[in-house]
Amino acid sequence: MSKQHFNTNKTSWNKRVETHFTSKFYDVPGFLAGKSSLNSIELEGLGDVNDKSLLHLQCHFGLDTLSWARLGADATGVDISDAAIKKANELQRQTKLNAQFVCTDVYAYGTQSEQLYDIVYTSYGAICWLPDIKLWAQTVANKLKTGGQFFMAEFHPMIDLLAGYDYFHKPQPDVEQEDTYTENCDGSKHEFAVWTHTMADVISALIDAGLSIEKVNEYDHSPYNCFEGMIEKQPGKFYLEHKNHHVPMVYSIAAKKP
Ligand SMILES: C[S@@+](CC[C@H](N)C(=O)[O-])C[C@H]1O[C@@H](n2cnc3c(N)ncnc32)[C@H](O)[C@@H]1O
Repeated sequence: MSKQHFNTNKTSWNKRVETHFTSKFYDVPGFLAGKSSLNSIELEGLGDVNDKSLLHLQCHFGLDTLSWARLGADATGVDISDAAIKKANELQRQTKLNAQFVCTDVYAYGTQSEQLYDIVYTSYGAICWLPDIKLWAQTVANKLKTGGQFFMAEFHPMIDLLAGYDYFHKPQPDVEQEDTYTENCDGSKHEFAVWTHTMADVISALIDAGLSIEKVNEYDHSPYNCFEGMIEKQPGKFYLEHKNHHVPMVYSIAAKKP
């Protein structure tokens, strides 16, 4: 990842943190009152995490990481944004949950730490910030113990296509001025560098990294209302339509390190 794109994304993610932290979208008071930030897709996908070590890549300010810890995991969250990790550490101190946070680039964490985990997890809006999906998959595989589980739930790349982005990956990122997706967004724009990755690229990269794929799912809804034009057809299930048909919104991949 070029230093320039790394710095662009880090700076812009840092600027989003305070807005996100105080948003209804992330609902920090609800989390502190005991609500989980996790959705049925990942809860069912990972199953029992009790007493397992879990690495959460791109954890933002740690709500999912801490929610896994509430379910009994020894959870570690990693994120590039120091503002997000500062908030995550504050939440950990408040809740005293079994979690720790590291401010680092996903790729760098693959080489910085020798610790291996029972579970590696990543979710919703993570891999578009990463230029090299093969190196990412290798990092996932390198951080897993033998027999360890990988689970990801990610926005479907079809959404990018319909929003006017490339479907197929290109090495140069789209560099965009963007505001943010939480309801309290004040419209201020920050620069981000993003890359698209097809499902085939992601699955092939995980296979090439030595993981055995156990399940792939595609969903016609998203648990988050974060794209323009979404309709909540059932509580907590947001849909997009294209020519009167549902757009695939989310996919998930479960894999094991043999
Ligand atoms: C949309 S958020 C992920 C939200 C996630 N679903 C959660 O648990 O809250 C994307 C996160 O990726 C982080 N990020 C972006 N590029 C990164 C990188 N190269 N290494 C580590 N984290 C990165 C950002 O700082 C941001 O917190």
